[in-house]
Amino acid sequence: MKNPFLIGERLYLRPLDKDDLDRCLRWINDPLVTTTLTMRFPMSRTQEESWILSHYKSQSDLPLAIIIKDQDQHIGNCGLHSIDYVNRNAEFGIMIGEKDQWGNGYAPEAARLIIDYGFKQLGMHRIFLHVYSHNERAQRAYEKVGFIPEGTMRESYFHDGRYYDNLIMSILESEWVES
Ligand SMILES: CC(C)(COP(=O)(O)OP(=O)(O)OC[C@H]1O[C@@H](n2cnc3c(N)ncnc32)[C@H](O)[C@@H]1OP(=O)(O)O)[C@@H](O)C(=O)NCCC(=O)NCCS
Repeated sequence: MKNPFLIGERLYLRPLDKDDLDRCLRWINDPLVTTTLTMRFPMSRTQEESWILSHYKSQSDLPLAIIIKDQDQHIGNCGLHSIDYVNRNAEFGIMIGEKDQWGNGYAPEAARLIIDYGFKQLGMHRIFLHVYSHNERAQRAYEKVGFIPEGTMRESYFHDGRYYDNLIMSILESEWVES
């Protein structure tokens, strides 16, 4: 394992580095990966590099690379964002960029690692996420982790000629500790 930060059964999470840039760029410009994300414009190498560099000193964003332990393969990224230390809220996000690794349960495993860190080490009270209604795969993955639907922003996302709902799901500290 190279520079592990959070270690799970099959995966570990580590900080993103400049060496990860080309891989991240490939994923973030892959229409099949981004069709369920908020991306509207292509991402340049310069933009992606400054996104990675901007997090080095950030206390409000914690992006991490998701690595399969066995092959030491970087398959995606996840993170806690907009970390709010007053209200103790943070937003969770994830992308498994290597599509051939979808359906292996890696997203729930990575989510559990970083969410546990969010509650137990960063002192968060509520961790929430946004997911589009057509992204049933992600909703299923989030349910497995224990996220509970809490609201709907109706028809707020326009995609391929029609509107979709933007769902909000969350987990509270008390629910996490008890689970
Ligand atoms: C969404 C994403 C994170 C899921 O990651 P993953 O590691 O493949 O998740 P899982 O392995 O738990 O598989 C998802 C579950 O959805 C199910 N699923 C797959 N396609 C589905 C579909 N069309 N409808 C409903 N469920 C579906 C799978 O069977 C699996 O459930 P199961 O374990 O009960 O069989 C990953 O596909 C991804 O990164 N997609 C692109 C970016 C993205 O959408 N990020 C999330 C933004 S909110």
